[in-house]
Amino acid sequence: MKRALITGINGQDGSYLTELLLEKGYKVYGILKRNSVAENQTARLDDSYQQIKNNLYYADMIDMASLIRVLQDVQPNEIYNLAAQSHVRISFDQPIYTAQVVAIGVMNLLESIRTICPKVKLYQASSSEMFGNSFDEDGFRRETTPMHPTSPYGCAKVFAYNLIRHYRNAYNLFACNGILFNHESPRRGSNFVTNKVVKEAAKIKMGRSNKLMLGNLDAARDWGHAEDYVYAMWLMLQQNESDDFVCSTGVSHTVKDLVEYVFGKLDLDWKKYIGQDERYLRPEELNALKGDCSKAKNVLGWKHKYTFETMLDDMIDYWVGELK
Ligand code: NAP
Ligand code: GDD
Repeated sequence: MKRALITGINGQDGSYLTELLLEKGYKVYGILKRNSVAENQTARLDDSYQQIKNNLYYADMIDMASLIRVLQDVQPNEIYNLAAQSHVRISFDQPIYTAQVVAIGVMNLLESIRTICPKVKLYQASSSEMFGNSFDEDGFRRETTPMHPTSPYGCAKVFAYNLIRHYRNAYNLFACNGILFNHESPRRGSNFVTNKVVKEAAKIKMGRSNKLMLGNLDAARDWGHAEDYVYAMWLMLQQNESDDFVCSTGVSHTVKDLVEYVFGKLDLDWKKYIGQDERYLRPEELNALKGDCSKAKNVLGWKHKYTFETMLDDMIDYWVGELK
């Protein structure tokens, strides 16, 4: 039975990946960052909790001693490093903490791996946020596009991305960067724009709210579904050689498109309800994202099943059901 360790197991992606790996017959282990409300720590893991409850460890990416103890105990075959302070806007408020978790945390993990389990296969959750406003002539970002990040989070992810490549070359570690574009689901944190819009629109529909304050409506993202993207993570670690791969849908929509689609689905006129609050603007904005995932398609045989619309439908169904 293969052993997989997931950092950030209770995050959006961690919860879907746990379900996928259990289905594939893995023994799944995870690390949890301590939270004063214990229930919050496993809220997204409801479906798989019974199967993994004895395999959860308290640890933190900035506490290398805790990582060392977990690796010694688990001796994993595969590690998926999903832990992060993953909110871009919040990274402007907490840049140092974000860098410690997102960048130095990866150094802590790599150094622990070198000592304890150098044969392990490692997935690193890299991000399209690393590109910033740089793109190729055809408007797409791909593995070869230069990176000019526009947030403390993006800068920290570039640091981690480079560490992965460096440790791969210097110490022959099997380490992959998955350069994933935005991916969402009903389990997305509700302060990310998709879930914020869907949840609030569903409340408005039910007469439980009448206003939704947003930031930049013109920003555009390449949005997919988390379920598709965790499958790509697994595929990367099933290859004979480690490499870096972009995962994206290749289609970009603005926040305004998102609002129009969600409110339209619920028969609401969005113009009556949307306001702008500068608290949600960023000191520097990444204006638009669109990814070319040809390499993942050709080498991994990966393709996404959900579109922008079906991904949002899944979220709308969830919130309408939940709020009823
Ligand atoms: P998420 O829902 O925010 O989950 C992040 C996870 O990391 C949570 O389990 C969180 O625990 C944990 N964590 C935070 N700080 C930690 C620390 N210091 N030590 C240990 N664990 C810590 O993020 P996600 O959407 O699942 O994304 C997974 C990974 O992919 C992240 O690294 C993110 O940056 C990256 N990524 C995401 C996207 C996307 O669109 N979703 C795209 C590209 C890359 P708590 O919940 O207890 O804080
Ligand atoms: N969160 C948020 N809240 N974003 C808003 C709002 C709002 O009220 N109004 C407009 N936006 C815009 C943001 O300015 C941004 O351009 C876009 O909506 C998406 O914001 P988020 O959903 O917060 O995601 P993100 O693109 O900043 O970051 C996500 O994707 C990255 C991959 O590109 C996160 O999941 C990162 O962890 C991930 O790396």
